[in-house]
Amino acid sequence: MKCSIAPAKIILFGEHFVVRGKPALGVAVNKYARVCVEKGHGGVYSAQLGELERGSPQRALFDTALEHVESFTGKQAKLDVYVDSSIPVAAGLGSSAAVAVALVHASLTLLDVEFSKEDVRRIAHEAERVVHYRPSGVDTTLSTYGGFLYYKQGEFRLLSDLRLPGDLGVIIVDTGVKRNTGLVVREVLERYERCERAAKHIYEAAGEVVELAIEAIKRGDSRLLGELMLINHGLLWSMSASSRVCDEVVYTLLELGALGAKISGAGRGGVIIGLFSRDHAEQVAEKLASRGFNAFIVEPDYIGVRSAELPVQP
Ligand code: MEV
Repeated sequence: MKCSIAPAKIILFGEHFVVRGKPALGVAVNKYARVCVEKGHGGVYSAQLGELERGSPQRALFDTALEHVESFTGKQAKLDVYVDSSIPVAAGLGSSAAVAVALVHASLTLLDVEFSKEDVRRIAHEAERVVHYRPSGVDTTLSTYGGFLYYKQGEFRLLSDLRLPGDLGVIIVDTGVKRNTGLVVREVLERYERCERAAKHIYEAAGEVVELAIEAIKRGDSRLLGELMLINHGLLWSMSASSRVCDEVVYTLLELGALGAKISGAGRGGVIIGLFSRDHAEQVAEKLASRGFNAFIVEPDYIGVRSAELPVQP
């Protein structure tokens, strides 16, 4: 049996604006999908969902990934797949991409062929296409390579030297409201069309926020980074991507001492991210939990997909 883990991701800056050609910045974080494979009968077993039935929608990701693995390796093998993921589903954290990436990595390792991370990313992206309508590829890229990713107009740049300032803790709050990415994206674009003369400046500002954020990270300027997050949230709000629930979580995080907080991903639900001083983050996460929030601290993952030792128990 071979096992691999692949990280989740968050969008730090630039969601929505990226759809109209502005840059965005994402980072891989230390919540993982773990996938183990062994030669077997073609079963897929999820620690969260139990055995996935053949032909069920949840199987599509696995079946497509394994078909592509087969054509890449030229080896036909019936594999049993065991999945265990600590990544919340449908929250904008890239859970399906992480599963696909870990599955492809574990399968190629088991089949003992030579492969690169780029092969893993490419095959996992094919599988993601079945689950998500026109995925940008951001999730599979971050899950494969880890670290920070700058992307703009379909071009990806891995910022391999970038490190989050050491004094920072990132807290994710899952609002529990399932977001509808397609709907929010459409309505944001419609507002743009109606208000273009004003909205184009909002998009311009959002692009500058991303560039300034990268400079702030390089300089270790945590305070400025927090402020830029708030500006980004406000710009998203003005384009209708926020909601009462999202704003309430942002205010709660600010009351608890956040340097900045914002929607991450499509908005109107999904997750909110907050920046805190590292010393303070643990205490804040406890306070949030005691108030009934589903909150957790994350750290960047700078490695991406890799082999893992511990097998998942079926
Ligand atoms: C959704 O996670 C991110 C959006 O920018 C949509 C997209 O980039 O495809 C809202």
